Amino acid sequence: MRILVLGGTVFLGRAVARRALAAGHDVTCAARGASGNPVDGVRFVRVDRTDPAGLAALTGEFDAVVDVARHPEQVRNAATALAGRVGHFTFVSTGSVYSDTATPGQRADTAPLLPPAPSDAEDPTRDAESYGACKVSCERIVTEAFGAGSVFVCRAGLIVGPEDPSGRFEYWVRRAARGGEVLAPGTPDEAVQLVDVRDLADWIVTAGEGKLTGTYDGTGAPTTRAAFLADVLPEGVEPTWVPQDFLAEQEVAPWSGARSVPLWLPVPEYAGFLSRDVSASLAAGLRTRPLAETVRDTAAWLAAAGPEAGQRIGLTETEEAEVLAAWHAR
Ligand SMILES: NC(=O)c1ccc[n+]([C@@H]2O[C@H](COP(=O)([O-])OP(=O)(O)OC[C@H]3O[C@@H](n4cnc5c(N)ncnc54)[C@H](OP(=O)(O)O)[C@@H]3O)[C@@H](O)[C@H]2O)c1
Repeated sequence: MRILVLGGTVFLGRAVARRALAAGHDVTCAARGASGNPVDGVRFVRVDRTDPAGLAALTGEFDAVVDVARHPEQVRNAATALAGRVGHFTFVSTGSVYSDTATPGQRADTAPLLPPAPSDAEDPTRDAESYGACKVSCERIVTEAFGAGSVFVCRAGLIVGPEDPSGRFEYWVRRAARGGEVLAPGTPDEAVQLVDVRDLADWIVTAGEGKLTGTYDGTGAPTTRAAFLADVLPEGVEPTWVPQDFLAEQEVAPWSGARSVPLWLPVPEYAGFLSRDVSASLAAGLRTRPLAETVRDTAAWLAAAGPEAGQRIGLTETEEAEVLAAWHAR
């Protein structure tokens, strides 16, 4: 097949290109080349999607297209430029499109969405809500342009694994390697849900091959934080559970960023964010590998890529020790 990845210079886009090449497809990646490099073996076409004429260098027909964009304007420009030349279109969306983050067990086909972003929305990276609203708009633009009979909307959950630029999963891999007393956020039974980037890429490529259409969540089945940590931490290491109210008192942030505990989200307001019912996705072909494999390969990537890889976020060693000392002294 002739496959076009709109993106393909970072994390998921690179994984999709790599997986498509491994399956023997003819792969084109189109981006500015500003965020990173495409993988070896693809045809790289330099495009700037902010300009309606910026995709002119993309010629010919494509059996399958995969788009990771966040800006409705960029998606509209691509849809216009590729009109009539696309067999199947996968739009990589996000679980941030959902308006109800609190209710566990929601399904992609029935969960309520955020209102779409206004047509002049410019900065989807401003906050989670504008990001989600822009992705709602992007989903609609793609579906209107190519038709529901040709479009797979893949609402990715938390994507982890080698080459993740976010630092979130990496925090736990590095934390496990450091040893000592480990701070675990919240309670052991809270939900954690994620997908290995290679499993998501695999599903996206097979979806193009099999012309899967419809809207699905692109993430694995939920697990508990205790089970997550049991896979991440060395055998026998029991973390110290620190409740969310105490973390908030200590000005520890959830999810991401400085002085945060990555992948932790407060409940009940986010009890539904990492606990989606993905039985439809698994039935539609998503296959997920054991978490221990993702941990091992992420550690190997970090070791091979050196100190510049990923992004160091989360509590520093000193901050974690201070919070743990305060917890024990309470
Ligand atoms: N990471 C997660 O946990 C997570 C969770 C849910 C959903 N998602 C979704 O999953 C996808 C991740 O994709 P990704 O890992 O490949 O990273 P990404 O950061 O979404 O990649 C964006 C791609 O678009 C290209 N691009 C940006 N501006 C452009 C422009 N003006 N013209 C042409 N190309 C442009 C970038 O390349 P250049 O800068 O080189 O042009 C890059 O290849 C996204 O759709 C994201 O919303 C991620």
